[in-house]
Amino acid sequence: MSADLLIDPGLVAALRRARHVAVLTGAGVSAESGIPTFRDAQTGLWASFSPEDLASPAGFRRNPRRVWEWYAWRRELVAQAAPNPGHLALAELARYVPQLTLITQNVDGLHQRAGSEAVIELHGNIGRVVCAEEGGVVEQWDESGGELPPRCPRCGAHLRPDVVWFGELLPEAAMAAAWAAARSCDLFLSIGTSGLVEPAASLPRAAMQAGATVAVINLDVTTAARPPLYTLNARSGELLPALLRAAWDDTPP
Ligand code: APR
Repeated sequence: MSADLLIDPGLVAALRRARHVAVLTGAGVSAESGIPTFRDAQTGLWASFSPEDLASPAGFRRNPRRVWEWYAWRRELVAQAAPNPGHLALAELARYVPQLTLITQNVDGLHQRAGSEAVIELHGNIGRVVCAEEGGVVEQWDESGGELPPRCPRCGAHLRPDVVWFGELLPEAAMAAAWAAARSCDLFLSIGTSGLVEPAASLPRAAMQAGATVAVINLDVTTAARPPLYTLNARSGELLPALLRAAWDDTPP
């Protein structure tokens, strides 16, 4: 079914009148850019790797080289990827609504490359590397010696990707901004996330409890929906441009 047909006029009306739209994205938004999601069966990254071994402090302590190489592979994947129409539609949405808060669980930086600004990165960014001891960002490092992970030029400890691993706390300021947006928005869009990982998974519920309209855009939505909850089973790269067309095609900003 065409994405345009999936869109409830009630959701379009809520979008058009919203003063503050909050958006939470997950790996599904980057799937159409060729970045594997985490949990989709067969293709999901975790299907080939164990989260405990590759995205946890214990996994890094056990085998820092394997973790570094896995993230280097993902960094390369991201570098070759391009923002898809879903990312671009969210960047364009900022031009139509008075206030847009974009919160992402993704670490690929594709929202920023699509033109979105002030992106709240709950799980960090794979493009940044930090010292595993001091935590500070390291811009340049030397891999010529062949030792991986490379060493911090300041203190000699291992370098690691600036992403939040299982068991680690999310960046406090980012989480506080995400909670504030969920509790003050008129419309909350949850897009391309399985909603399995806390605390991000609680944001849509917090928005609804605060009186917002909530739309869940995903590929495997099963929840029965009635306003103020809307569910749309569609690819974000198709649905999001269709949603903007439905709301503003006759009234450009
Ligand atoms: N459009 C919309 N949704 C999609 C698309 C698409 N093109 N492709 C896949 N999806 C949906 C899948 O159906 C799935 O429900 O996106 C969701 C992706 O879920 P996950 O793979 O669990 O990714 P995410 O929700 O972002 O995971 C949250 O878990 O592993 C940690 O830190 C990691 O940030 C990640 C967090």
